[in-house]
Amino acid sequence: MQGLFVTFEGGEGAGKSTQIGRLADHLRADGDDVLVTREPGGSPGAEAVRHVILSGAAEPFGPAMEALLFAAARNDHVEQVIRQALKVGQMVLCDRYIDSSRVYQGVTGNLDPDLMRAIERAAIHGLMPDMTIILDLPAEVGLQRAHARRGAATADRFEKETIDLHRKRRDAYLAIATAEPERCKVIAANRPADEIAADIAALVDGLKTSRGLKTKQGIEVAK
Ligand code: TYD
Repeated sequence: MQGLFVTFEGGEGAGKSTQIGRLADHLRADGDDVLVTREPGGSPGAEAVRHVILSGAAEPFGPAMEALLFAAARNDHVEQVIRQALKVGQMVLCDRYIDSSRVYQGVTGNLDPDLMRAIERAAIHGLMPDMTIILDLPAEVGLQRAHARRGAATADRFEKETIDLHRKRRDAYLAIATAEPERCKVIAANRPADEIAADIAALVDGLKTSRGLKTKQGIEVAK
């Protein structure tokens, strides 16, 4: 019994949490056992590191320090939570994963690609997502949404940065999707939530079918 590992990526305000919730509802209605989790965090060890990173306490020590902390948190999350969940057949939906590190630390943190690849290998030991949904939005729209949600004054360490950085991140996500089209699916996020949710549900249902995991639709067709 092996579950599916689906990760969600995108800039701030792209609607990841809403869409993860919608997909979780869709899968549960289909009878799936769903685990919703997030990074940085998702396990007690990783949540402890999350606080250190997002408070900005590690920022003065540079992007390499931050990349290693994200990787430490990721490794704990993978080994303590995700692998076990997949083994018992759960559908694991994760808010951010390796592509966030590739984009935020690797590209906009200007870290050496060899270092980033080595850190990634050590963090995940081969646990690649079965599918990565990239919620794509113009940087301006994402920033406006994030500010409206939290208020600029309470923005975290990564939300305080400039529009230029947000544009670079968007381009970096799109470059990953071009390089890994099998795994990464780009979804235009500047649309009504219902439309986006329907597109994502169709993609994940397709993935389930291709892996021999039944969907309700599949059962009906078989009747
Ligand atoms: P979070 O409050 O979870 O925000 P969001 O809703 O945007 O996911 O903050 C996570 C922040 O950490 C986000 O700005 C992206 C950043 N991040 C990285 O820089 N590298 C990583 O590997 C991960 C997982 C997150």
